[in-house]
Amino acid sequence: MYTTELDKSRPVDLQTGEPKDLVDAFEARVAADEFIEPKDWMPEAYRKTLIRQISQHAHSEIIGMYPEGNWITRAPSLQRKAILLAKVQDEGGHGLYLYCAAETLGASRDEMVDALHSGKAKYSTIFNYPTLTWADIGAIGWLVDGAAIMNQVPLQRTSYGPYARAMVRVCKEESFHQRQGYSIMLALAEGTDAQRRMAQDALNRWWWPSLMMFGPPDDASPNTERSMRWRIKRETNDELRQKFVDATVPQAELLGLSIPDPDLTWNETRGAYDFGDIDWSEFYAVVKGEGMCAKERITARKKAWDDGAWVREAADAYEAKKQARNVA
Ligand code: 3HC
Repeated sequence: MYTTELDKSRPVDLQTGEPKDLVDAFEARVAADEFIEPKDWMPEAYRKTLIRQISQHAHSEIIGMYPEGNWITRAPSLQRKAILLAKVQDEGGHGLYLYCAAETLGASRDEMVDALHSGKAKYSTIFNYPTLTWADIGAIGWLVDGAAIMNQVPLQRTSYGPYARAMVRVCKEESFHQRQGYSIMLALAEGTDAQRRMAQDALNRWWWPSLMMFGPPDDASPNTERSMRWRIKRETNDELRQKFVDATVPQAELLGLSIPDPDLTWNETRGAYDFGDIDWSEFYAVVKGEGMCAKERITARKKAWDDGAWVREAADAYEAKKQARNVA
């Protein structure tokens, strides 16, 4: 970090007022694909946008436990229950890694949690949709975790070191999440007519919200241009969305299920699928907190946080006692 009392003779970056030599050195390091580490100098705006993205990523992991958690007691077999339990537990761990990564930037856990509980911070819109049948658990693993993998694999090369390293572990576990979801969909698609209908119904309800996970179109994204320049993002929202569609359509065909998009068609010239318009008014309404389960999710989250207060207090008391013993 540069000294707080700026050396007046030192040229400053006209936009941010930060020392120009430090800004230029930072930009050169990012352009050379170097990792930026917690103790390195970084522009305040870089630090801020990372705290924004990483903390909201963490919030998404934690809130993402609720839609699936509702089905742990109703899984159709002991094996499915054990698999779902492991997945939900993984998501909690992903949230903790990411909160820790955000803390290396100076954010405090309490501030981040308060921002989530107050609605100031976002979490992925996808987790505001209800999980109506067991097939939804399959669709979430297959589509939501599939989209998460598409978005998170490039983040293993994000310019901020702690975030990139957290993603390496997260991506390994996401692959299991996606496989188990696809295996649920396969079992249903190869099952009775009623099970096949249940799988198709889940695909119909989760397809478009999964495409929204990649964020607004690039030309409507206030963060993408700068995040790409700073190599926080390695591919844009639209690029990753397209990759997800191209990878997932053949998987639906293998399941014998149809993607709920009459405009979906293979474009030979582009070597990619053309697909229909996304309903961005729905996206922005859910971002604004109007999602079907938004209230239920945050209420459950706040209750869990309050119910867990005694554990945090006990851990703090234990730590304080240990410190006092070490000092004595
Ligand atoms: N849900 C809620 N808000 C969203 C959103 C979504 N699906 N997509 C974008 N937004 C918000 C952004 O946060 C931003 O608001 P903000 O400036 O107040 O934070 C605004 O909409 C404009 O979007 P941008 O594209 O400009 O924002 P970003 O550059 O941050 O891109 C992103 C959005 C692609 C989600 C990016 O933040 C990102 O890659 N985040 C890391 C991955 C992540 O958070 N994934 C969420 C799901 S986690 C998950 O699925 C776990 C799995 O295990 C189930």
